[in-house]
Amino acid sequence: MRRVNKDQKVRISLTLNGRKVSAETEPRTLLCDFLRHSLAATGTHVGCEHGVCGCCTVQIDGAAVRSCLTLAMQAEGRDVRTVESLAGPDGKLNKLQQAFQNNHALQCGFCTPGILMSFTDFLSRNPKPTEDELREVLSGHICRCTGYAGIMAALKEAVAAD
Ligand code: FES
Ligand code: FES
Repeated sequence: MRRVNKDQKVRISLTLNGRKVSAETEPRTLLCDFLRHSLAATGTHVGCEHGVCGCCTVQIDGAAVRSCLTLAMQAEGRDVRTVESLAGPDGKLNKLQQAFQNNHALQCGFCTPGILMSFTDFLSRNPKPTEDELREVLSGHICRCTGYAGIMAALKEAVAAD
């Protein structure tokens, strides 16, 4: 970690969804704000801003992290992936996204990017989880709309499709 004065601007360079990007910001800037305000990656949502709701979840070097609990500076030089990385270049939804659509697993969609990024990481490490394991990961995400039944159905469909 670089040492900087709190009033000094820092230049942060990282790989975002496979593309090298760079922008200046304040040392205290959170990763979620850097993604949204400096890099125009607005698919990452910000809710509670203290690590509870999960909607800001992104991946750094493949691991799901709360971007509201991560300084932008901590992502310097690293591989950051957001929900914008999931669909193909032609806009075709990936398997997990398609399962969400099939099962009406979103209403307002505010929670959805974080859930997708958490499970993209989790299912890459554990492609055949139990229902309890799915529920445990989902417990890290708050959805105000769906009652979670559609989300669980989507997750189970995505797991069964492998
Ligand atoms: S906004 Fe990051 S966990 Fe809620
Ligand atoms: S779909 Fe609205 S918060 Fe989850």
